[in-house]
Amino acid sequence: MDSNLLKTKSIEALVDDVEKGKHLKRTLTAFDLTLLGIGAIIGTGIFVLTGTAAANQAGPAITMSYVLAGLACGFAALCYAEFAAMIPISGSAYAYAYATLGEVIAWMIGWDLILEYAVGSMTVSIGWSGYFQRILAGFGVDLPVWMAAAPGTMPGAVINLPAIVIVLLITALLVVGIRESARFNATMVAIKLAAVLFFIVAGFKFVKPENWSPFAPYGWSGIMAAGAVVFFAYIGFDAVSTTAEEAKNPSRDLPIGIIASLVICTVLYIVVAGVLTGIVPVTHFRTLEAGLPGTPIVPLDQSTEFLNAPVAYALHVIDQDWAAGLISAGAVAGITSVLLVMLMGQPRIFFSMSRDRLLPERVSKVHPRFGTPYITTIITGVIVAVFAGLTPINVVGEMTS
Ligand code: ALA
Repeated sequence: MDSNLLKTKSIEALVDDVEKGKHLKRTLTAFDLTLLGIGAIIGTGIFVLTGTAAANQAGPAITMSYVLAGLACGFAALCYAEFAAMIPISGSAYAYAYATLGEVIAWMIGWDLILEYAVGSMTVSIGWSGYFQRILAGFGVDLPVWMAAAPGTMPGAVINLPAIVIVLLITALLVVGIRESARFNATMVAIKLAAVLFFIVAGFKFVKPENWSPFAPYGWSGIMAAGAVVFFAYIGFDAVSTTAEEAKNPSRDLPIGIIASLVICTVLYIVVAGVLTGIVPVTHFRTLEAGLPGTPIVPLDQSTEFLNAPVAYALHVIDQDWAAGLISAGAVAGITSVLLVMLMGQPRIFFSMSRDRLLPERVSKVHPRFGTPYITTIITGVIVAVFAGLTPINVVGEMTS
């Protein structure tokens, strides 16, 4: 093999090139980075998967599944924190691979990350559109079918307009500035944390400890299987590293942002899981398809209702139905910030690769006024918007996985 392909770039050279050449504006603090991390991590996973994995896999020991998945992410997060502090540039794992494994592996990892964030953004924006339309329907507003979904998903559907609009709006925000984007993210994080904290505080006094017994009815295999499912709820913790070049004091603030956001989310996840399983006897809601011993205790329509929206169901049990709207708002805010961070991460990897000439160099331009990688941001936004508007969610969802 051509030895050039395995050529590595020293950390000093990587950092030096950035300091002397095109680089992004450093404005983010440790607090901003922590909020971006929470923005990337908490989406809909906590509101949905906690209930489904508890009912069909782990039982009340779903809390253990969250501990295990959190630990696994924690080890990876420590690696990210160390690398991001040593190589504070926007390429994330692409730049780390360039420094350690060489050009060709870095190029492959770069493309892998670009595809991951781009296809992930398509899936998340289509999910956003679904939630948004459900909220509109709650207010009695139904969008015309032609603009509500991708062609082929339902008769008369032509385009998923809400998905396109949200992607383009977030793209515009990301072009205008990383500080502005961080501020918007902070608002979304506040809404979703309010929803999560409300559930914990309101639900706490309705917890019946007898619902936690037996704690692990399906043993370790159930806990581990549920751990693999709830891992989804942690996805995103790595995205903060793509803002390394915009952190004011990267070697201190990035490790704080990455680790603090993961710790905060892990604690919240474990507490939500504990409260949910304390309010609802989750194993009564298992489905026959789960293939678990014994027969389900509640009728199928009730278990379907619980499995579709476990947190809203628990609120119903404790007579707090009015708060279902807050949980929906939390879920939409959650998806919006996950989308923002994904649409922020992708162009930064793209930017780094193009600056290293592993992609066309002319796209690695920094906006003279906003200090953002605006060309890669716009290319990403337009491609994601087109696919989000025209592709069914199951197609992009499968591609993401
Ligand atoms: N971690 C994100 C979520 O839970 C993907 O939705």
